Amino acid sequence: MIQVGQTLCGKYRVEATLGQGGMASVWQGVHVATGRRIAIKVLDDRFLGNAHVVARFGREARAASSIHHESIVEVLDLDRTEDGAPFLVMELLQGETLTQRIEKRGRLSAAELVAIADPLLDALHAAHEAGVVHRDLKPDNIMLVPAGRRGEKVKVLDFGISSKSDEVSSLTTTGSLLGTPHYMSPEQARGRTDIDRRADLYAMGVLLYECAVGAVPFDAENYNALIQEILNAPPVSPRARGAAISEAVEAVILHAMSKDRDARPSTAEALRDELLAVAPPPLPAASSSGSYPITDAPLAERKSMPTLDAAAIELEPVRVSSSPPRAPSLQLDGAAVRRISQRSSRVSASPPSTRWGRVALASVLAIVALIAVVRFVVHPMITAEHRRATTSAP
Ligand SMILES: Nc1ncnc2c1ncn2[C@@H]1O[C@H](COP(=O)(O)OP(=O)(O)O)[C@@H](O)[C@H]1O
Ligand SMILES: [Mg+2]
Repeated sequence: MIQVGQTLCGKYRVEATLGQGGMASVWQGVHVATGRRIAIKVLDDRFLGNAHVVARFGREARAASSIHHESIVEVLDLDRTEDGAPFLVMELLQGETLTQRIEKRGRLSAAELVAIADPLLDALHAAHEAGVVHRDLKPDNIMLVPAGRRGEKVKVLDFGISSKSDEVSSLTTTGSLLGTPHYMSPEQARGRTDIDRRADLYAMGVLLYECAVGAVPFDAENYNALIQEILNAPPVSPRARGAAISEAVEAVILHAMSKDRDARPSTAEALRDELLAVAPPPLPAASSSGSYPITDAPLAERKSMPTLDAAAIELEPVRVSSSPPRAPSLQLDGAAVRRISQRSSRVSASPPSTRWGRVALASVLAIVALIAVVRFVVHPMITAEHRRATTSAP
């Protein structure tokens, strides 16, 4: 049993509790020698006798460490407490989970959704290319970490039931039945053992659906009914449930959620490309830093934002992003349309201040010309006339 103030292996001091998952507790701590703040995930005592679960813990550490991606939580160490409980040490993430974000905001806008999906799919692609399938993607396992003026970073956690394609999957078959089944792909729900990256793409589809709608696509009274829905029920369209996204973005989400895995995009990269081709591009800070500015517009305001298809608006002469367009069509939300109309009014007509400047300049020139006429034409004529009159007088 871990307690605040305890030092693990003489190296890591436990400072506060961070979270409790299905099988482990997560604590904030400090690496005593360097002072670095860290997170410590400790397997619950009740699982210490379960060799499968203990083995899975080691796999989590190895899986996460093998990927090296800025959007995947960094695992720094793996050890055991004096009581024999395995624990892993991670970089400390200070932010909120995607679950907390959805609870706080309800529905996310298309731009927010893309800002999260873009780095997430990039990280997932890196994991898949390293031979790791996460198998438990859900908003609880995604952290959003403020990154100052650059927006926020997205981090994938919890490779606890991940599988390496070259390893036997008996451990992970048990694991896939733990926790919430809402994000479980139809092939996992059917109990197939040859699970591959496409199961993660299905979970990404469900996760994006939930971001857009504020609720998961399938829910039921009990586990069996939920599995039946996952296997057989077509999802209700996100837009019909109030999602503020375009038809094209909706189609991408539903594509990822295809029940037949052969019908889904074949890689996370392909899914990312599909989404970026139809969605608002990430805001400029995203590209270089890997972090994304997220709008803080209140939910009520964002709900009322219209979404428009690119075909319905005139894009020239304005470019929405400084980077080259990724696809011929763009889908823009209300804020983007407002930005465009402001920018196009700037290029197509002079601002009022410039027009008034011109009027004032013309008036000054006219007055100067009038004075010149009076001074050099009218005045000499009057003077000459006056002289003539005085000299001709008797
Ligand atoms: N590196 C971390 N930094 C900060 N909080 C974390 C970190 N890792 C996990 N957490 C918190 O602990 C919770 C459970 O962690 P997770 O790895 O998902 O454990 P479990 O396998 O038990 O679900 C997370 O939802 C998050 O709130
Ligand atoms: Mg978790």
